[in-house]
Amino acid sequence: MSFRSRRTVTDHVEDVSPGSGVLPPRARYASSDAMSLSLNGSWRFRLSRTADAEDDSFAEPGYDAGDWTEVTVPGHWVLQGHGSPIYTNHLYPFPVDPPRVPTENPTGDHLRVFDLPADWPADGDAALRFDGVESCARVWLNGTDLGEFKGSRLPHEFTVGHLLRPAGNVLAVRVHQWSAGSYLEDQDQWWLPGIFRDVTLLHRPAACVQDFFVHASYDHATGAGTLRVDSDVAGRVTVPALDIDVATGEPATVPVRPWTAETPVLYDGVLATGGERVPLRIGFRTVELSDGLIKVNGRPVLFKGVNRHEWHPEKGRALDLDTMREDVLLMKRHNINAVRTSHYPPHPAFLDLCDEYGLWVIDECDLETHGFVEQDWRDNPVDDDRWTPALLDRAARMVERDKNHPSVVMWSLGNEAGTGRGLTAMAEWIHGRDPSRPLHYEGDRDCRDTDVYSRMYAFHEEVERIGEGLDGGAHRRRGLPFILCEYGHAMGNGPGGLADYQRLFERYDRLQGGFVWEWIDHGIKDDRYGYAYGGDFGEELHDGNFVCDGLLFPDRSPSPGLIEYKKVIEPVRIEGGGEGSDSTVRVTNLQDFADLSALAFEWSYQVEGETVEAGALSVPALAPGESADVKLPGPPEGPGGETHWTVRALLAADTAWAPKGHVVAWGQAVVAPRTPPSVPATERPVRGPAGDLITLGPAVFDARTGALRRVGEVEVTGLRLDVWRAPTDNDDGAEWQTGTRYGLLWRRLGLHRMRHRPDAVEASEDALTVRTRVAPAARELGLATVYRWTSDGERLRLTVSVSPEGDWTVPLPRLGIRFGLSAADEVRWYGGGPGEAYPDTRSASLVARWDATVDGLQTPYVRPQENGARADVRWARLGGLRIEGDPEFWLTARRWTSEQLDAARHLTDLTPATASDSGSAAGVWVNLDHAQHGIGSQSCGPGPLPQYFLRAEPTEFSFVFSATG
Ligand code: GAL
Repeated sequence: MSFRSRRTVTDHVEDVSPGSGVLPPRARYASSDAMSLSLNGSWRFRLSRTADAEDDSFAEPGYDAGDWTEVTVPGHWVLQGHGSPIYTNHLYPFPVDPPRVPTENPTGDHLRVFDLPADWPADGDAALRFDGVESCARVWLNGTDLGEFKGSRLPHEFTVGHLLRPAGNVLAVRVHQWSAGSYLEDQDQWWLPGIFRDVTLLHRPAACVQDFFVHASYDHATGAGTLRVDSDVAGRVTVPALDIDVATGEPATVPVRPWTAETPVLYDGVLATGGERVPLRIGFRTVELSDGLIKVNGRPVLFKGVNRHEWHPEKGRALDLDTMREDVLLMKRHNINAVRTSHYPPHPAFLDLCDEYGLWVIDECDLETHGFVEQDWRDNPVDDDRWTPALLDRAARMVERDKNHPSVVMWSLGNEAGTGRGLTAMAEWIHGRDPSRPLHYEGDRDCRDTDVYSRMYAFHEEVERIGEGLDGGAHRRRGLPFILCEYGHAMGNGPGGLADYQRLFERYDRLQGGFVWEWIDHGIKDDRYGYAYGGDFGEELHDGNFVCDGLLFPDRSPSPGLIEYKKVIEPVRIEGGGEGSDSTVRVTNLQDFADLSALAFEWSYQVEGETVEAGALSVPALAPGESADVKLPGPPEGPGGETHWTVRALLAADTAWAPKGHVVAWGQAVVAPRTPPSVPATERPVRGPAGDLITLGPAVFDARTGALRRVGEVEVTGLRLDVWRAPTDNDDGAEWQTGTRYGLLWRRLGLHRMRHRPDAVEASEDALTVRTRVAPAARELGLATVYRWTSDGERLRLTVSVSPEGDWTVPLPRLGIRFGLSAADEVRWYGGGPGEAYPDTRSASLVARWDATVDGLQTPYVRPQENGARADVRWARLGGLRIEGDPEFWLTARRWTSEQLDAARHLTDLTPATASDSGSAAGVWVNLDHAQHGIGSQSCGPGPLPQYFLRAEPTEFSFVFSATG
């Protein structure tokens, strides 16, 4: 092979053009009566280090690939043992010199030999379709070079009928990890080369369907739907349920039930041309901008959305249908009504599911050039005419593929690509091709090209100003609706502050909701670490665990953030009713379209957390936006105690996405308040015979230090004030945040290494008082801390008084006590549960009696950090102790110390504490916190709001201990 022909093989890699030889984009449909052959499966594979290491002779029929390895298609070769994944947020992992790419350019040659099925029609043509290849592919069939393409998450088709043989077809695909296209695909995710979506051979009969556009609008004033299917190849459109039988291009107007995300009514139809019948699933709906709002079918919608990257912990972005369905079901079950397909068009089957189950979709183009921010956006491809054809190609491939989905209600140009003429060209093309959907792009701050004002991570205060219309800005923008296309950064513990955003969205019409960042942690299943994140593959540049910022853990189990979000966005609000009425429930329908007839309501009363009475509650089928006050049966009679009512809204019947009885929403209110524990101080501290111990009721103390040793038979170690928590990702904050990265400030101050100096141990008539000063080395500030112990003989009461000394300019991470117990397994408590909660993530915490194990209390954040607190705990039992709070407290218990948690990088670093490493016999560490600092979402967004700050100020709180024997 000569040098010249080798160059021919690789020149396209660094060419800004979208490709050559491919068919024009067209509508995607899931099936038809034309035959197709999936070419998914095991392919022969050879990996080279550079684009030109091997010539193209492998594409010739007869080539012997016997010594090649194999990979599964769809798949990424780096997740199949060949090379490694790389994670960067916005940095290009190669020198920025567009459109040049590095010499080290992992290149995967893929080979597949296939026979046609015996009944493959002899007539007609055939198309070979690739649904997604990262980042650049050249394709040969039976030795003929078909062409090449870029645009990783977009479909590409070739005409191949003339090349097919009945048997022994040789399909060869050369895939380069890096190409000019990589400059347009700088999304915050793993770089994962490969043929990662389906490869299909499609028979194209004579007079088959080519491109078609289903226009199905809904007139909310008349209740009529109008269907018109424009088709490149003329034919007929039938919709039996609507008695529609019209020619393509002809409109038909009939009464219909409209499609919405809440009521996803689809009508089955058929588009039939001379050579092909394509099933259609038609949803009638009209999206418009009117009165400055996004309206569907005449009503404004509120997006309760998530950003969804495609992710599977073993398969990367090669998702199977079950996983896609699981995502949709999980979203529906957690009250999510919208998805932004960040930051590329998803596998097409995902949109079929969104149509079917009902989700509003912002379909985003495969475009991000974020890395150019490092050079002030100089040479940004979106502002360089040479790249415009590639941008237009990407826009067209998205719109043409996905235009027939009722779920798609907005197009998005892409993400974080700066601004430029290329984006404007895309916007003009999209507006022209599909005026029926508004256009989104967050980077267009003045909304010159877009139809909605969109921002990411704007702080609550600014969002409120925008809601009030006080944000000024370009004239055009002022008249537009607002969405937060990203907010609530779900990295690690959090996000905090979701409820506060939701209140704003509900208060101001202009605020049409938002999309939490993001759906799932992109952790990669890994033998070494459980789940790997950036840096775990030795990348020279990486962004660590910033890739694990989802509402789902990598295995798709919901994180507390998702449980919180579900509660915050519930479609029905259930709250305490009118004034002075303990037993009236106000129910509000927060949906945009559906009434409440799909829901059944149940009431119950809890006394001291135990349900004592329950029944069905009759709630009118309120229309969207309506409220009603509903009277509950009178509260239970009897000895009483703290009493709550709890009302739940459940699915009244099975739905496509959850069974009857699934809890959609709930509310709880106090009917009779709690009586705090009272422990008369009847006992007096007694010094033991040897003088080294003091006994007070059931407790034994060290006489010299005042340290608690035992309560009854339960040994207690290291009980003392604790202010440290293993900083969360949100405590640490993103590196670009200024001033308030408290995780770092706390560490700088030394809050993780507080010293405890006992100043006095005083035994009086009725109390043992231990005075201490708690302070970090090198600092003058501290916390004067007094522990006052009293007892009634059986119970032991500890009152902790804390007085800050010096100039505390930072909030405290937590304020409470911690101690070690030799062992504990089962935990029982009366308080908030079942899951974790912190001051600004506590919406979903329901007061009841709960049981868990110590291990079950842990939240497995991929990067270990503070987790697992239970809120509003009245009392808890564990390890032989009963602890009651005055007032309620936050309970955390784990088999390691906060310091060990803080030091861990992966969950596999956490091993249960042993006598040797904790310096004591403690097997379980318990934190009883009077207060916690809020969580916020400062890993990319605002920190905790001021009302969730834990300020250092004089504070007093108590716990009552008794041994449970
Ligand atoms: C946004 C970006 C996302 C992701 C997020 C942080 O700026 O659009 O792709 O990087 O920040 O996780």
